[in-house]
Amino acid sequence: MTTLSVEGLRAGYGGGTVLHGVDLSVPSGTALAVLGRNGAGKTTLVHTICGLIKPRAGHVRLDGEDLAGRPAHRVARAGVALVPQGRRVFASLTVAEHLRLSRRKGDWTVPRVLELLPRLDERRRHRGDQLSGGEAQMLAIARALLTQPRLLLLDEPCEGLAVDLAERVRAVVAELARGGLTVLLVEQQPEHALAVADRVALLADGVVASTHTADELRADPSLTDHALQVAQH
Ligand SMILES: Nc1ncnc2c1ncn2[C@@H]1O[C@H](COP(=O)(O)OP(=O)(O)O)[C@@H](O)[C@H]1O
Ligand SMILES: [Mg+2]
Repeated sequence: MTTLSVEGLRAGYGGGTVLHGVDLSVPSGTALAVLGRNGAGKTTLVHTICGLIKPRAGHVRLDGEDLAGRPAHRVARAGVALVPQGRRVFASLTVAEHLRLSRRKGDWTVPRVLELLPRLDERRRHRGDQLSGGEAQMLAIARALLTQPRLLLLDEPCEGLAVDLAERVRAVVAELARGGLTVLLVEQQPEHALAVADRVALLADGVVASTHTADELRADPSLTDHALQVAQH
């Protein structure tokens, strides 16, 4: 079964096109990382998948149902959750309030997410602006899980975190993937992608240039060179 299938996806801003026909698929219960340099269009890709940007062409199929062009709230209701770049937690809401607001009925309950992310339990009464970057990232993940996603999108979740916290975040995402959640992670750093993903798609020049198993990339790290090299001006 394929949870997410993206075909010929084109999107951009104003007169500029960023995604020139992206194809990728994420089999159910697996984790795919999309790797690309800064400005490659990773955030544009996840925003287009979750309906924040309207695609100009192409398909976004979730369990076979085409969601392309639907507004974000309907894509969310269909079971797509985004952990956004920069976490985006509310400064004035406490951890407990964030969790209450995100909660929908389903297998992911507040006690279950707090068991997965025990640090949040200790921080229940703290406001968003009192959290460290790592704690805010855990909260962003908790919030997404409480919406009971079929597909979890994560946009550079380790960005700006100290090494030990980045490792903790990676371990949590890897545990979710091992537990059967379908994950699409966009990343700039191969080591973060490889810590979590079964397969890695390389995004360059607005298309997926190639897709590799994690083992293939570990064996030949130079495969990522084209996707990660800084653009020539
Ligand atoms: N809101 C926006 N308006 C116009 N251009 C944008 C906007 N957001 C991103 N871009 C441009 O789209 C391209 C891809 O950006 P983005 O998807 O954020 O890349 P990444 O997440 O891989 O760093 C970049 O050239 C960026 O400048
Ligand atoms: Mg980005």
